[in-house]
Amino acid sequence: MTESALELVGVTAGYGRSMVLHDVSLTVPGGGAVSLMGHNGAGKTTLLRVAVGLLGVRSGQVLLNGEDVTKQRPNARVKRGLGYVPQGQLSFPQMTTLENLQLVTTRQSEIDEMLDLFPALTGLLSRRAGLLSGGQRQQLSIARTLLTKPKMLILDEPTEGIQPNVVAEIERVIVELTQRGDLSVLLVEQHVGFALRSTGSYYVLESGRVTSSGTGGEGALGDVRAAMAV
Ligand SMILES: Nc1ncnc2c1ncn2[C@@H]1O[C@H](COP(=O)(O)OP(=O)(O)OP(=O)(O)O)[C@@H](O)[C@H]1O
Ligand SMILES: [Mg+2]
Repeated sequence: MTESALELVGVTAGYGRSMVLHDVSLTVPGGGAVSLMGHNGAGKTTLLRVAVGLLGVRSGQVLLNGEDVTKQRPNARVKRGLGYVPQGQLSFPQMTTLENLQLVTTRQSEIDEMLDLFPALTGLLSRRAGLLSGGQRQQLSIARTLLTKPKMLILDEPTEGIQPNVVAEIERVIVELTQRGDLSVLLVEQHVGFALRSTGSYYVLESGRVTSSGTGGEGALGDVRAAMAV
């Protein structure tokens, strides 16, 4: 049996006294890709913040590669192979695309590898990140996080507000990376079709509770739509 890359066990968490997640359990298998869907405000980003360690739990556990990291700070989890691309295409706007990548590594071979994965960035290396389009910035954020060589990659709505051709690029990258088998992915997504094509299994979160889960593929489209219609 493959060890799980990331596991949330009975997690209850929130902000101050108001709990957002209620007894949530979720597993990302080693080398697998899992999507997490749900309406605005369902608690998806909150769940990712718990996984990354930016938010503590009221009860429950977070495991990375079978190790209990519930009490560990984000940087300790990053050292254990976690990579997080937050919602909203973050980058350093005054720095160029290349400088943003060089924040992680100055090794040209590693940067070239990212440019192979995201060819669109090649012509944008000397452009300031603040001038990139949303889709280009999203690719830059993912590339920068991948340069840290994560084993468990967490993506929060990478397709939010970007055009279909860039969505297809990101889908290609997720599929390519997980097919190599050395990366596990947890993808938060509102685009159900994209999510199911990119991942092997899914969870639906509604008002902080898992209301549906199963194996992915486009065959699950009807089930997920039904789960999200309530
Ligand atoms: N820092 C915070 N303090 C208090 N409440 C918060 C905070 N961040 C989020 N919330 C609340 O927690 C709930 C879940 O928010 P969350 O950001 O996890 O939702 P989401 O599923 O990621 O939504 P979206 O699809 O819009 O990104 C919402 O009701 C939100 O208002
Ligand atoms: Mg969110």
